[in-house]
Order: sequence, then C-alpha cells, then structure tokens
Amino acid sequence: MIIMKMDLLPLNERINWSLRLMNPGCWVFLLVLLIQVLVISADTDPQDAAVLNSLASSWDNTPSNWIGSDPCGDKWVGISCTNSRVISITLSSLGLTGTLSGDIQSLNELQALDLSYNKGLTGGIPASIGSLSKLVNLILVGCSFSGEIPPEIGNLPRLVFLSLNSNSFTGSIPKTLGNLSKLYWFDLADNKLTGTIPVSDGNKPGLDLLTHCKHFHFGVNQLSGTIPSKLFNSDMRLIHVLFDNNNLTGSIPPTLGLLSHLEVLRLDANSLSGPVPSNINNLTKLAELHLANNQLTGTLPNLSGMTALSFVDMSNNSFDASEVPPWFSTLPSLTSLYLEFLKIGGQLPKSLFSFAPLQTLKLRSNRLNGTIDIGTDYSTSLELIDLRDNDISQITLGGGGFEKKIILVGNPICNQGGTDLQYCKISRQSTPPYSTPQNCIPIPCPSNENLSPNCHCAYPYTGTLYFRSPSFSDLGNATIFQILEDALKSSLLKQLPVDSVSLQNPFVDADNNLEMTLQVFPGGKDRFNEIDVSTLGFILSNQTFKPPSIFGPYYFIGEGYSAVRVVAPSSKSNRLPVIIGASVGGAALASLVTGCVVFAIRHRRKTRKLKEKNQSIVSWSRTKSSSSIPLLKGAKLFSFEELRKCTNNFSEANHIGNGSYGKVYRGILTDGQLVAVKRAQQGSMQGGLEFNTEIELLSRVHHKNLVTLVGFCFDQGEQILVYEYVPNGTLKESLSGKSGVHLDWKRRLRVALGAARGLAYLHELANPPIVHRDIKSSNILLDDHLNAKVSDFGLSKPMGDDTKGYVTTQVKGTMGYLDPEYYMTQQLTEKSDVYSFGVLLLELITAKKPLERGRYIVREVRVMMDKTKDLYGLHELLDPAIGLGTTLGGFEKYVDLAIQCVEDSGNDRPAMSDVVKEIENIMQLVGMNPNADSASASLSYISSSRSPVRHPYSNVGNFDYSGGVPPSELEPK
Ligand SMILES: *[C@@H]1O[C@H](CO)[C@@H](O)[C@H](O)[C@H]1NC(C)=O
Ligand SMILES: *[C@@H]1O[C@H](CO)[C@@H](O)[C@H](O)[C@H]1NC(C)=O
Ligand SMILES: *[C@@H]1O[C@H](CO)[C@@H](O)[C@H](O)[C@H]1NC(C)=O
Repeated sequence: MIIMKMDLLPLNERINWSLRLMNPGCWVFLLVLLIQVLVISADTDPQDAAVLNSLASSWDNTPSNWIGSDPCGDKWVGISCTNSRVISITLSSLGLTGTLSGDIQSLNELQALDLSYNKGLTGGIPASIGSLSKLVNLILVGCSFSGEIPPEIGNLPRLVFLSLNSNSFTGSIPKTLGNLSKLYWFDLADNKLTGTIPVSDGNKPGLDLLTHCKHFHFGVNQLSGTIPSKLFNSDMRLIHVLFDNNNLTGSIPPTLGLLSHLEVLRLDANSLSGPVPSNINNLTKLAELHLANNQLTGTLPNLSGMTALSFVDMSNNSFDASEVPPWFSTLPSLTSLYLEFLKIGGQLPKSLFSFAPLQTLKLRSNRLNGTIDIGTDYSTSLELIDLRDNDISQITLGGGGFEKKIILVGNPICNQGGTDLQYCKISRQSTPPYSTPQNCIPIPCPSNENLSPNCHCAYPYTGTLYFRSPSFSDLGNATIFQILEDALKSSLLKQLPVDSVSLQNPFVDADNNLEMTLQVFPGGKDRFNEIDVSTLGFILSNQTFKPPSIFGPYYFIGEGYSAVRVVAPSSKSNRLPVIIGASVGGAALASLVTGCVVFAIRHRRKTRKLKEKNQSIVSWSRTKSSSSIPLLKGAKLFSFEELRKCTNNFSEANHIGNGSYGKVYRGILTDGQLVAVKRAQQGSMQGGLEFNTEIELLSRVHHKNLVTLVGFCFDQGEQILVYEYVPNGTLKESLSGKSGVHLDWKRRLRVALGAARGLAYLHELANPPIVHRDIKSSNILLDDHLNAKVSDFGLSKPMGDDTKGYVTTQVKGTMGYLDPEYYMTQQLTEKSDVYSFGVLLLELITAKKPLERGRYIVREVRVMMDKTKDLYGLHELLDPAIGLGTTLGGFEKYVDLAIQCVEDSGNDRPAMSDVVKEIENIMQLVGMNPNADSASASLSYISSSRSPVRHPYSNVGNFDYSGGVPPSELEPK
C-alpha cells in the first residue's frame, strides 16, 4: 500500500526527502538510497534507479528481469547505461500497459526513448519530457497515447528523431517544434491532429525553420487550412513531404518548387483546389507524385522533364478537359500512371506502352478515343491497362495474349456486341500478389508456432509493414519482394538471430499505403527473447532498417510478442533481501520490511519460473526434433562428455580440419569406431541453421556415396555432429597432391561415378528430393577404397511436392561452382547441382580451381575446345598426373558430358541419373566394371611419399552471397 501511494508522487518531490520524512512516499526512495549505500557493487545512479522503478510501477508486463534496484548492473532488458547513468530505454513490442510517468524527467542523461508497439500504453505524454535535454530519439510509434503533443518537446535541443505516428494525439501541431533545429525525422502521421500547419511569425517559431529535416510525415490526420506558402524554402532538405489524407484546403503553394531534394510528394486525399503550380517540373528528383482525390483545377500539370518520376497519381480532380499530354511518352522511369476520372481526350500514343519499367496504367473514365495500339515492343513489365469507360472504338494487339491484361469495358468497342472478348470482361488474368513461399514440404507445428519459410517451427515476431509511397504497382513481382526479404533479413541478422522473414498478402489500403504482413522467425531457437524483441522493434521503429529505395518511406506497427522467452536472472539479483535483513531495524521500518518480504517472495517465485523456463529451453532441440525432424534413423544422441572424452578433450592433436562453422576433430568411440566430430563454434548463428539442416537431411538419407551421420549432440549449448571417419580426405586434397593419393584416369572416373551416384540418389530417390547446393571438390570425401562420399549438407534444400520443381531461395553456394541461372533467377532446382557437378568433372581432369585470378574453368574449356583435335585440343589444361602419356579412353565423351552439365539453361542439362549412365558407359569403354565394389583394392593407389593427411569436412572458401552485383567472373553470355 505504501509503495503504491508513493508512486503517485512526482519524483522531484521525493528528492526532497529530508524535508518530508513523514511522507510515506519517501520510504521507497530511502530504500533506494540505502541500497545504494549498502550494496557496494550497485552500478546505477540511485536517482536513475528510482526513476526506473517509478516507471516500472506505472506499467504492467515489464521485462522479467526488472527486479531489484540496480538496472545498469543487472542489465535490465531495454536499458543501456554509461557511467551508471541510464542513456537509453528501448522497450518495443513487449506488451507494456499503463502510462508514461512524469518522473522520466529526472533521467537527465537519457538519449533514446523507444516505447513503440505497446498498444497498452495510454494517456498523455508528460510535459516534463521537455527536461530531457540530451534526448536524441523520441519514438512512440503505434501505442495508444492521446491528448495534445506537449509544446515542451520543442525544448529538446538535440532531438533528431521524433516519431509519434499511429497514436491518438489530438490538438494542433505545437509551433515550438520549429525550434528543433537538429530534427531529421518528423513523423506525426496517423493521429487525430487538427488545426493548421504552423509557420514562423515574428518571434514565434514554426516548421519552416526545420531546415535540417528530411521527412515531414503528417498524413492521416485532420489538419486543415492551407499549406502555408512560407512552409517551404530553398534552404530545406526535405525529401519526403507526406500530407495526404487530411483536410487541407486552398491551393498548392508555388514555394513547393523550391524543394530541390524532394523525392516523394503526397498531397492526395485533401480538399486542395486551384491549379498545380507550373514550377512543379522543377522537382527533377521527384519519384512519386500523389495529387489524387482533391479538387485541383486548371490544366493537367505538365510533368515533362521530371525524368525521375516513377509513380504518378492525379486521379479524381477537376482539371480542365485536355488532350493526351505530350509528356505521356517522355517519362522513362514511369512504372505506374494513374489518371482516373479526369477529362483527358484523344488517342493514346503507342510509345507510352514501350517504356521498359511500365507496369500499370489506370486511365478509367476519361475521354480517350480512337484506336488503342499496344504495338509489338510493349513493356514486358506491363500488368494492367485499365481503360474502362472511355471512347475507344478499336484495338490493335501485338499478340502475346496481352488482351487479358487490358480492360475496355464501357467503351464503344465492347458496346457493339463483342462482350465475350477477353478485354471486354472485368475479370482478367493477373499475377496473384506475392507471398513468401515455403521452401519445403509443410510439416505440422505445435499449436501457436508457425512454420518458417525454411521449415522450422517457431514463434514468429509479427507486424505490419506500411510503405507510404512505393515506386511500383505490380504486387505479383517476386523479385521485388525477395529483394525486400533479403534486405530485411540481412539488416536484422546484424543484431539478432533470424532464421527467415516472411512477407504475406501485400495490398494497397484505403490510405493508399502498400500494406503487408511481416513475420520474422528466430534462428536456432523457437522464440525470441525480450532483448531480441525490443531490438527488433527498434530496428524498425528507428528506421535502422532502410528498405531498397523502390519501396520508399515506410513505417511498421509491431504486434505484442507474447512468446517472449524469459531471460536468465542475474546472479546479483538475490542480494536485496539479505541486505534488508542485515541493515534494517526499528519499528519505523517495519512496514518497509514487510514490503520487502513480499517483494522477495515474488522475486523468488519469478526466479523459480525462470529456472523452469530455462529447462524447457535446454530441451528445445529434443522436442523440436520430434516435431520437425521426420526421422532420425540410426543417428545417435551423444552426450557432450562422451564426445569430449573420445576426442581427448578436443585436443589440438585430434584437430583435423576447419568447417564453415567450427572445427573438426578425429575421435574414437568406446566401441572402437573412428569418427569425425564437427563442433560448431559457440554462438555461431549460421552454424545453428546448418546444424539443423544437416541433421534433418543426413538422418534420412543412406547411401554408400553419401557420408554417414553417426550422431549428434546438443548438450550444454553445444552443437556437434558426428560423422563416419573417411580416411583419405577430400577430393580437393587429392587433386592438389596434398593427400598423397594418386589419381589416374580410371580412378578419376570411379570418383566421378561415386559422386554422381550420391547426387542422383539425393535427387531421385530421397523423399523428398534434396538439392545439395554446395557440390565441390572439398565436399567429396574419399574412403580407403577411393569410394567418393558426398558430404556437408549444411546448405542443402529439400524439394517438396508442392514446389513445382523449384524453390525460390536466397542464392547460396560456392563461387566457381554456382549455377548462373540459379544466381539470376534465385530459383533452385536439381539442375543447379548438375551445373556444379559439371564444374567438378572439369576440375577432375584439370586439377585447377574452378575460379582463380579471373580464370574460369568452364569458359577456358569452352574456348580452347576443338572437337577436330585429339583430346579436343585440351592437353594444355589437363592435370599431368592423370597419365597424359597413356590413352585416356572415353575422354571426349567425358568432356561432352561435362559441357552438357554446364549448359546455360537448366533444361538443357542432363539429369543426374543420365550422368551416372554416361559415366558407366565410359567406364565400360575402358574395360572397367562400374559395379565393382570399389576402386580396385589391388592397385596401390597411395604414392610412396604419402604425406600426413589433414582431414577435411572443411568448407573453407565457401561463402554466401545474396543480391547485389553478380560476380563478374561468372560465365558471360
Ligand atoms: C475533415 O474532413 C472530413 C471529410 O471531408 C470531415 O468529415 C471532418 O469533419 C473534417 N474534419 C475537420 C476537423 O474539419
Ligand atoms: C528551378 O530550380 C532552379 C535551380 O534549383 C532555380 O534556380 C529556379 O529558380 C527554379 N525555378 C522556379 C520557377 O522555381
Ligand atoms: C478524339 O477526341 C478528340 C477530342 O478530344 C477529337 O478532336 C478527335 O476527333 C476524336 N477522334 C476520334 C477518332 O473520334
């Protein structure tokens, strides 16, 4: 009770505690001071600790480790400190409810406050926030704050980021915000603001003074009055002016033409009237222009010379009747032209349809007449031409089934009885909106968990992305959305473990924003923890994530994340009750002790809960394996202790190689079996993903040409895979002469056959089929009998029945082996492995790295190949160790096969089973038995100077890349 009463008092009153000892509110402050005095190691300034406790007491659902009174020392979730002072509070999406206490004013070192996406935060912003003189970021996006925006915010001299969008603020925009001379980002959109846009007047400040600001986002409010002419001047650096969906009246001021940096202008859905200023075409950087749904008059604005324009919407205005303007065919970047319900007459020029980026033309309800001639070289991006309700009487189609994308309903051409023509129907064929595909067969997930695009069951972080002015209109274009997915994932991955991101159901909403659902799936665990969630929220609320520029300005509204995993309690946090017991005495403090006992009990209960949760975290992989790993045939679960012993405590002497995510050790199991033990580096995220992929895939494929998974271990935070030990190392080592294994022509054929059979099994017999994605000489292992064994399934992908023969995925693989078609289209098929295998065949005869100092083996062979010559004239390229003096029987057939495998188009490449057959044929030509059990054991295949074998499983040199410029070394067309 006492504590609750105290919380109602502002902190500054509490600070005068010595004068007000009789006030019960001071006791808790006293307590904080006592703790400060008695706890030698407390790292938090006592006043800051008291403020945070006060904030916490006005909130429910604070993070689980907000316990005790040393927020800095105990690393409270969402709190950062420097020199004992709290400098940032970032608590997005944690489900906080309550109000923002005015006590926050005493955190006078605070630089960032982000409480975004807590729908349960209500009430006003306390005026005292104006005392936080060091504040740089004030971000309260998507809460339920209301009341007026306090004018005191204008007193924050260092404020750079002010995002109050998507709340319920009322009243007008305070003039004082014009004092924020450092402001860069200014977002008040989606509130209930009224009144006019303030500009300076005499001594009074106004928004025209914000010359550093790049973003005015004021859309979706009830702002009224005219857009003041004074608002814009040539000193301003505005790139986004978003005033859409307000009640603005009057005409557009000509000063707008002074904003030479402007890229996006949204004035749509207001009540603007009068003509559009003629200097609008001075805005040569403008890419998106939205003037729709106003009462603009005068002539249709002349947009000639605005070569950056990609999206133009001027529909639903009162422009004078006009002829098709000449600038229609002079805008080379145009993707979308919306001019509906105007009075444009005349014939559309054929050239309009030929600009490559053009996607959508909406010209409904005009007076367009004559013939529509699409021509033959119309844009391949064209998705829709809506010409409903015009006066068009003829159409000339260039062929290609394009008539399905034109709508001419309500034109004379359709009124003359031709209603069964494709273009006279509203229903048309359009690409369905993009949604992130599932890259595997869907598997059932436990309730409340969702399946990630990479097929892991987990609790995704969910929210809605809003793009306020994208430069495109084709919502079915997978490439565009995949660029966004990749950009998002890589931005998030820099700060938290992410398995994948999923975008669903993009659509244009009533406010003309492009909306879509975003889900972010955790990597290597089934849920994000509180720190992850607040970090994730901040990346999106603070605009740390910058989407590709075609998406334009965005905002994000996160949903609360109820699956937050509790963070481990700090070891320090038990001290509180002890201190109190030791130091407090006297009847006057009895009530305080009572309070603390209650606190201690609650605390202990919380701690116990934490322990239970942690246990369930430890068992994640087990439960997960039962739900998402189809089968673990024969693979054994090892304890960490067992593996530590069998590798002699991971001794350096047993270290036999380095993998992409950790070291590989030789080990001997208790039953005497030799194994290779791959131990993921602690905390390697990528390792986590590849670890799971390998277990899932390897445990259900069994073939003598695939390396066998003996077992795995995920004890004590370790991720360890145990494989059969393959004694002769990698093919790469043998080709480079490192391993001492001598490979003559026949042995090379046998190695090729083994690898091909392993791959053919993956493609054609595994269920579902598996694409390996990283076929290369360092992933082919050779056993005692030179049987090839395909290894390293970390990048492999299962292909579900639902995948139409391909999955769309971020490009991964190794340079030199990577299928250029997959690189270009991001569509992965088995044929990508065939390409890599073709490269491997060439490497096998040349013993050259596929890609080295700008030399690309595929190109070299193609260029040098001369079918009229012996050995196709390739002598110079061949590895002398192949036995150049001897007859290389079937060599030409072998080269033919390799070249077929590296055909540019996957369709032209053979299937792996055909490759197997052809290699078998070649072997028979040279008198070998392809079905002999092994490379003739009778031959001594180890050369006399056998050097110590460094064991492989390594994929050093394997690197992932995504997006960006294709590597120039890739085979040119
Ligand atoms: C703004 O305009 C809407 C519709 O035009 C109207 O319903 C509303 O009352 C107006 N609000 C103000 C504050 O003028
Ligand atoms: C157009 O821009 C140029 C350079 O930015 C400027 O000098 C000129 O005055 C502008 N014209 C109008 C009509 O605003
Ligand atoms: C098309 O409309 C224009 C006026 O907008 C008129 O001058 C022209 O004659 C019309 N052409 C046809 C073929 O009807």
